[in-house]
Amino acid sequence: MKMSGNTILITGGGSGIGLAFAERFIQAGNQVLICGRRENVLQKAKEQFPGIITRTCDLTIESERIALFDWVIANYPEVNVLVNNAGILQHFNVLKVDAKYNWSIFSEEITANLEAPIHLSMLFAPFFAEKGEAAMINVTSGLAFTPLAVTPIYSATKAALHSFTMSLRHQLSATSIEVIEVAPPAVDTDLSASWLRTHIEPLDAFADGIFKGLEEGKTEIGYSTSADRLRMSRDQVDEYAEKMYNAMKASIE
Ligand SMILES: NC(=O)c1ccc[n+]([C@@H]2O[C@H](COP(=O)([O-])OP(=O)(O)OC[C@H]3O[C@@H](n4cnc5c(N)ncnc54)[C@H](OP(=O)(O)O)[C@@H]3O)[C@@H](O)[C@H]2O)c1
Repeated sequence: MKMSGNTILITGGGSGIGLAFAERFIQAGNQVLICGRRENVLQKAKEQFPGIITRTCDLTIESERIALFDWVIANYPEVNVLVNNAGILQHFNVLKVDAKYNWSIFSEEITANLEAPIHLSMLFAPFFAEKGEAAMINVTSGLAFTPLAVTPIYSATKAALHSFTMSLRHQLSATSIEVIEVAPPAVDTDLSASWLRTHIEPLDAFADGIFKGLEEGKTEIGYSTSADRLRMSRDQVDEYAEKMYNAMKASIE
């Protein structure tokens, strides 16, 4: 994708990976819009980067996704890049949760991580298809390729988003829209928690690595261990998933 002169919507751009991407896109000469649920987090981002445009939204609510799309195209019709970055992670033991009375906790993870980016991609795709240059960047995870069994829904949503991203790339191949997948390894943000017994990548080094991949025109971009996991054989996937589960299963016992 071209690295400057874009207008870019980054979901969940107020913190962590989304904010690190926002910073780099702004520095490269792009206009950046961010959204998230917490007004104070968006305000803090605006204090740090006064040019940034913010919008509160809860992407688990269908009408709020449509309202976000309508607001963006009405106020920033030049928008040509969508970064589906917002996401949440739950860590649990399927034998110790109450799926009868607490299902909403789990369905929220599926909606935020999978339904929302799929819906936003489908809202923006026809609009972007009319543009000279456009891109959609879906943030999945190394766990899309090697599931982490202590985060079973999270890993499943990321695998599904990887699959959707591949299909989207095929369907949009005759348009000007580039479809890019970013698959982070464990990165130091609010999402990576203390139970995560693994090496955690520093946020700035990770974001710089991903931007190098974007500049090189890659369409599937990993970093550190996730770069290897993108290309593992099925036997290697099984071995890696087992190793990770054994290292972390005590956290859900
Ligand atoms: N950090 C890692 O180790 C890692 C590894 C692999 C993949 N990823 C992926 O990277 C992406 C960014 O995560 P992060 O690590 O930067 O964590 P983060 O700092 O917690 O960022 C997640 C962002 O998503 C927003 N968000 C969550 N639910 C939302 C909703 N319903 N509506 C609107 N915004 C919502 C949050 O803002 P509000 O809470 O204010 O809504 C927050 O700004 C996620 O997709 C995550 O799965 C992270």
